[in-house]
Amino acid sequence: MRLLAIETSCDETAVAILEDGQRLLANVVSSQMDVHAETGGVIPEVASRLHIENISVVLEEALTQAQLTMADIDAIGVTQGPGLIGSLHVGVLAAKTLAWATGKPLVPVHHIAGHIYANSFIEPLKYPLLALVVSGGHTELVLLKSEWSFEILGSTQDDAVGEAYDKVARVLDLPYPGGPSLEKLAKEGKANYTLPRVKTDEPLNFSFSGLKSAVLQLIQREARADRPLNRADLAYAFQEAVLGEVLRKTRLALETVEVKHLVLGGGVSANTRLRELILGLRHDFPDITITIPPLWCCTDNAAMIAAAATVAYRHGVRSGLEIGADPGLDYVSTK
Ligand code: KG4
Ligand code: ZN
Repeated sequence: MRLLAIETSCDETAVAILEDGQRLLANVVSSQMDVHAETGGVIPEVASRLHIENISVVLEEALTQAQLTMADIDAIGVTQGPGLIGSLHVGVLAAKTLAWATGKPLVPVHHIAGHIYANSFIEPLKYPLLALVVSGGHTELVLLKSEWSFEILGSTQDDAVGEAYDKVARVLDLPYPGGPSLEKLAKEGKANYTLPRVKTDEPLNFSFSGLKSAVLQLIQREARADRPLNRADLAYAFQEAVLGEVLRKTRLALETVEVKHLVLGGGVSANTRLRELILGLRHDFPDITITIPPLWCCTDNAAMIAAAATVAYRHGVRSGLEIGADPGLDYVSTK
């Protein structure tokens, strides 16, 4: 069973070919990062235009890498949502066109399901499973009682973790993309500033916008007092506050629900400090398998979409050519 998957939800044009859910025959990612770095962030219109320019090239490159033609492919997976509408459109249209031209089944998947199943490249997933998903658009604790069933235990009330990193990085004048730049600066800092803990409505929900305001207030306070700001120490304080919160909620979820496996997913899972904190949970939860995705599979790519689409395909997920990109897609609608 060979599945070709397309991912274009944000600023990466990606195509991957996966055999039997395990063997990655091709994995091509064309990043628009350099273009967006010039404007300090993703401009949706620019992103979708670049996807249009790149998609055929990336598709051809993937088939060349795998030394296959479309005749060797059994199904076509695609990220249907969530993401930027103009970006998603390009991938969905490409996938529909391929499905129409070749008569192969079309398997639409949720972008976050991809981030979760990225972990299956490391080891087989065990259920019930808890996934901590931290990306630029999502911060969620997702319970999978069994394969291809998703229950959100907690999510962010405002900013996503990656979004908070990106916004604070901008305040600190750090280069795009903000997350990795801020992490780098935090490594040079030490515990010198304290930031308040933000309250949430539900115990397993997250909130980060208050933290961003606290950073701004701290900068203003130091300026008023004529004290020089130590940017590295502030980056350190922010990172410890955000990730401390993420770890606290994950720990609480593990104490609340019984799971066999904890996995991490989303762009922020590339963060070394977060990876260290999550792996540290092994001491307190020795019976739970803890997996973190490989670095190549943390930020957006199509290999993870292929992994999720292969599971979806086994569960009978198919769609006709009437589907469209859905920027607000939720998990259940992909069932
Ligand atoms: O999953 P992803 O590639 O795209 C979305 O689906 O959102 O995640 C991108 C997010 C960005 O906000 C980026 O700043 C953040 O992940 N990110 C990081 C790191 N690497 C990427 N945040 C903190 N530390 C990192 N090392
Ligand atoms: Zn993502």
